[in-house]
Amino acid sequence: MRYFIGNWKMFGVPKSINILRKINSFCSKDKNRKKYRVIITPPYTLIETYSKYFQNKRIAIGSQNCYQKDQFSSNTAAVSPFMIKNVGAKFTLVGHSDNRAEGDTDKMLKDKVSYALKNNLKVVFCIGENKLEKKRKKTFAVLKNQLKKVLDKKFNQNNIIVAYEPIWSIGTGKIPSSVELKKTIIHIKKQLKKIFRKKKTLPVLYGGSVDGNNVKMFKEIREIDGFLIGGASKSSKKFIDIIKNYYR
Ligand code: 13P
Repeated sequence: MRYFIGNWKMFGVPKSINILRKINSFCSKDKNRKKYRVIITPPYTLIETYSKYFQNKRIAIGSQNCYQKDQFSSNTAAVSPFMIKNVGAKFTLVGHSDNRAEGDTDKMLKDKVSYALKNNLKVVFCIGENKLEKKRKKTFAVLKNQLKKVLDKKFNQNNIIVAYEPIWSIGTGKIPSSVELKKTIIHIKKQLKKIFRKKKTLPVLYGGSVDGNNVKMFKEIREIDGFLIGGASKSSKKFIDIIKNYYR
């Protein structure tokens, strides 16, 4: 199974649903549709209406983040996994570099994953090194640490997907070389096997400047189980092109 996840970040109003309707109509007719899942994470404000609309359709709706508490509490502007689940989200991202940069710590991320799973949300856990860490050849150590500090053997690994997003690649048009990326994905899968002490590994996605052209290079790396797509997910044509070119 492959995953094409579109992360809208701070984008979208109710009528932006038209973008998703086009993606959905492509996916319902696509001959390869059984081979992949499409998930879109709009902002909190759109989760409920979009989830209702796409119930029993080809697009699943997720959240971009969640607060590190279970149900209700006195944290102004916070939205819990329980609340997200109750308006129809099936997934949540946790640990996106945007949110790490704004103060999400490993301890907070661990609580987020734990409460999200408790509320039956599937978690897309994001990791990735920055430019300086890459330059200093610290990538493998950074990724290992990010995984180890948050993921726990007690978590149900069937409900977790890992997304590798090198920070220097997000929104820049820069992507890792295919040799480098293959090694990194294999490294991540090895770490996941160690953490969960299971033979079967979790799906590992790549994210960072994915588009309809470079996806042809990524598809050669069989270890990549799908993509987390930012910019290109805000256009139905660009998003559909990624899927089309992946299976071409
Ligand atoms: P871009 O695809 O715009 O580089 O964004 C990647 C990302 O951060 C998705 O979460």
